[in-house]
Amino acid sequence: MSVSLLFLGAGNRGFAYARLAHALGARIAGVAEPRGERREAFREAFGVERAFGDWREALEAPPLGEAAVVALPDRLHAEAAVALMERGYHLLLEKPIAPTWPEVARVAEAKARTGRMVAVAHVLRYTPYARALKALLREGAVGEVVSVQHLEPVGHWHFAHSFVRGNWRKEGESSPFLLAKSVHDLDWLLFLLPKGVRRVASFGGLYHFRPERRPEGAGTRCLDCPEGVERRCPFSARRIYLEAYARGERGWPLDVVAYPVTWEGLVEALREGPYGECVYLGRNDVADHQVVMLEYEGGETASLHVEGLSRMRFRETRVFGTEGELFGDGERIWVHHFVRGERVVEVGRFGEASVRGGHGGGDLGLVEAFLRAVALGEEGLLEPFAEAVYAHRLTFLAEEARRGGRVVEVENPRP
Ligand SMILES: NC(=O)c1ccc[n+]([C@@H]2O[C@H](COP(=O)([O-])OP(=O)(O)OC[C@H]3O[C@@H](n4cnc5c(N)ncnc54)[C@H](O)[C@@H]3O)[C@@H](O)[C@H]2O)c1
Repeated sequence: MSVSLLFLGAGNRGFAYARLAHALGARIAGVAEPRGERREAFREAFGVERAFGDWREALEAPPLGEAAVVALPDRLHAEAAVALMERGYHLLLEKPIAPTWPEVARVAEAKARTGRMVAVAHVLRYTPYARALKALLREGAVGEVVSVQHLEPVGHWHFAHSFVRGNWRKEGESSPFLLAKSVHDLDWLLFLLPKGVRRVASFGGLYHFRPERRPEGAGTRCLDCPEGVERRCPFSARRIYLEAYARGERGWPLDVVAYPVTWEGLVEALREGPYGECVYLGRNDVADHQVVMLEYEGGETASLHVEGLSRMRFRETRVFGTEGELFGDGERIWVHHFVRGERVVEVGRFGEASVRGGHGGGDLGLVEAFLRAVALGEEGLLEPFAEAVYAHRLTFLAEEARRGGRVVEVENPRP
């Protein structure tokens, strides 16, 4: 597809989208990335003409294409997104749109003012599984949807990697847990039940990854931890990273710990950096489990569980309707119609659920839809931006509800 792209951020997500866009025939005209090794690797991999050390420098250059991919850390999204739109770029914008509601509103205002297209990377919506599920609901497989129950099993080692040791461990430095991990999931509830929400409640917090739960005798770093303690610890960095390397893994999350991924690089990072630290040191403050409940204007309800202490797998959703119920696990959908009985729709496996596996085909679906929308000038090929904004709004309200210990009424329920 003859679309030229500017990439802001050549980290994990930047590389993932660039690989897909490049394979689909897009031209990658520019990249902004402060880390020299990653910038050069990106430049070489995709034949990029212009490279910059900071996203602001890229914006001072003449336009490098009609669209940009914003794969920067959360806190830089809003400022970059607004500036890019003002320079005329359409956007593939990583989620969250921004870590605060005023910034999200600023991005929405800039979009309305500039008329640019914005594809928010709510990748779940772009999976073959989402299309199959939505088609079933449209054809009335369970009648009218009355209630949805949704689970995001983050995975115990993924939680330890990203939310205890990694970039999202401190709310003040990135985003609240619900926003960082599950604005996707509130968006998913809106995808299945796209109606106005009247009330929001939420509970949860940091239960397990606290100093008072540190096993007796544990070291401050896994590589120095007594073997008897380390071998029993599910969150041992030796287990999560070194054993994965020994099994032949080289991608995420190892490339977050050391880049390029080498045994020596990993060992050094585990000896000196945050990914080798004991998970019970108290350097993290985000929730490790959270539930959210929604009540819709029409009386429908939805609930979300986001669980750090879980086996990593695809998200699971149950939908209860006036004529039946269904259950989906990301690959297969079981439908039980109260009159017509059971059937199973096999969607198939499109990679793994996580970033490592392209989010079950969602990364590819998003990049394909974005390139096509830009090439044809057809925003209708993208999932609605207004629903992405609404999902963010509900996420902030859920946080308000959790912190304040109250049920929050939604003013102006529709976006
Ligand atoms: N859609 C999803 O499922 C999904 C999954 C994971 C992460 N994310 C989001 O994607 C974004 C990127 O996450 P990631 O995992 O790739 O993180 P990352 O840290 O690997 O990548 C971010 C990159 O931005 C670069 N950067 C920092 N400051 C910059 C600047 N001033 N100018 C240009 N580049 C700069 C960093 O050096 C880094 O390489 C985050 O907002 C994250 O929340 C989304």
